[in-house]
Amino acid sequence: MARENIMAALDIGTTKVCCLIAEIQEDNTVEIIGFGESPSHGMKRGVVIDVERTVSSIKTAVEEAEMMSGTNIDAVYVGIAGSHIQSMNSHGVIAVKNNVVSDADKERVVDAARAVSIPADREVIHAIPQEYIVDHQDGIKEPNGMKATRLEVNVHIVSSAVSSAQNIVNCVQKSSLQVIDIVMEQIASAEAVLTEDEKELGVAIVDVGGGTTDIAVYHTGYIKHTSVITIGGFQFTSDLQHALRTSYNEADTIKKEYGCALFEMATENEFEVHTVGSGETKKANQKTLATVLEPRADELFSLIQNDLEQSDSDNCLTGGIVLTGGSILLEGIDKLAERVFSRPVRIGKPIGVTGLKDMVNSPKYSTAVGLLKYGLKSRKSGKTYNFTGRKSFDAVYSRFKEIWKDYF
Ligand SMILES: Nc1ncnc2c1ncn2[C@@H]1O[C@H](COP(=O)(O)OP(=O)(O)OP(=O)(O)O)[C@@H](O)[C@H]1O
Ligand SMILES: [Mg+2]
Repeated sequence: MARENIMAALDIGTTKVCCLIAEIQEDNTVEIIGFGESPSHGMKRGVVIDVERTVSSIKTAVEEAEMMSGTNIDAVYVGIAGSHIQSMNSHGVIAVKNNVVSDADKERVVDAARAVSIPADREVIHAIPQEYIVDHQDGIKEPNGMKATRLEVNVHIVSSAVSSAQNIVNCVQKSSLQVIDIVMEQIASAEAVLTEDEKELGVAIVDVGGGTTDIAVYHTGYIKHTSVITIGGFQFTSDLQHALRTSYNEADTIKKEYGCALFEMATENEFEVHTVGSGETKKANQKTLATVLEPRADELFSLIQNDLEQSDSDNCLTGGIVLTGGSILLEGIDKLAERVFSRPVRIGKPIGVTGLKDMVNSPKYSTAVGLLKYGLKSRKSGKTYNFTGRKSFDAVYSRFKEIWKDYF
């Protein structure tokens, strides 16, 4: 297989690190040829808290994927998440040179939109054009070549704490890999699970992971809003741990095996729990779990609903809500979501890949698969990137910004 057709993604999550290796086929499909996963011990709510343990998890996942694919990788697309990420919409306007919109004009108008004041410890990581407005005509996706005197753009701007992004790049580099690009995790997940029709109609993707819940709203084909809520599967498990007075690991296993987010769906079938301290076992049933899990899931969805209302997104979600991420595997959670959101809800798994697709056929792998699909899109835009050595953090970022300028 030709090296230039190989692409790799690294999802450094709060509970697991997942590495995928893919071969890009001639018809531009992503064929997954390598899969590696290892428990993540050095991350909290999307942020690195222990470099050595994170590096060790990355190395294990990468080695596994390399072994399975029979190929070595040297560069990856990486996801970024966490409460340090903030987003806003901005507007830019310029006079068009020579009365015909060119790529240079597009770049200038996006630069004008991103010239918002950002504190020194924060960095703009995405400036994604939503729509261009050419001489007051709005809703234009590609203004290149149009006759005009005035060009405006609406841009979705995402910024991150410089140190948090730097720590992720650092961990990847310490694992002897280069970072091709850093991608906001819900944008990656959206690439994997949403259809173009949903993005056009208006849809919110909600990725409920282990440490955070990442939200992205699309409408008329472009990204309208992104946000992060610091509740995830960790809180579900931690609530159960306290209610059952057991270890975190046992609470997590019980949650996965018997957990239910809807009291009326839960059964009274009993199972055993080891209590901490005495080590004695006691009986519990699914209804006990639901009395703990339902209020927490209800709280999470209510926070999401508030976020959608505050960002003026709730009135443009004709396509409904798509839930993804490992915590969505909790029984009954989609039914509860439908009740809170009062709109259609579906569970989103990665689509549109071939090869080892059965191994990634779970909401847990949406971000990893999405990173590959994002990578393919950036390649198609003609902006392949060759690493000649270790890149500085600034170089990674300028490349990152460059791609997003004309991503849509
Ligand atoms: N069958 C299941 N039922 C309920 N919860 C589950 C199930 N399987 C996994 N989970 C939960 O999913 C969470 C992990 O999800 P995921 O793999 O998407 O997280 P992550 O990507 O590591 O974290 P993050 O994206 O927040 O950094 C864990 O809290 C785990 O307990
Ligand atoms: Mg995740």
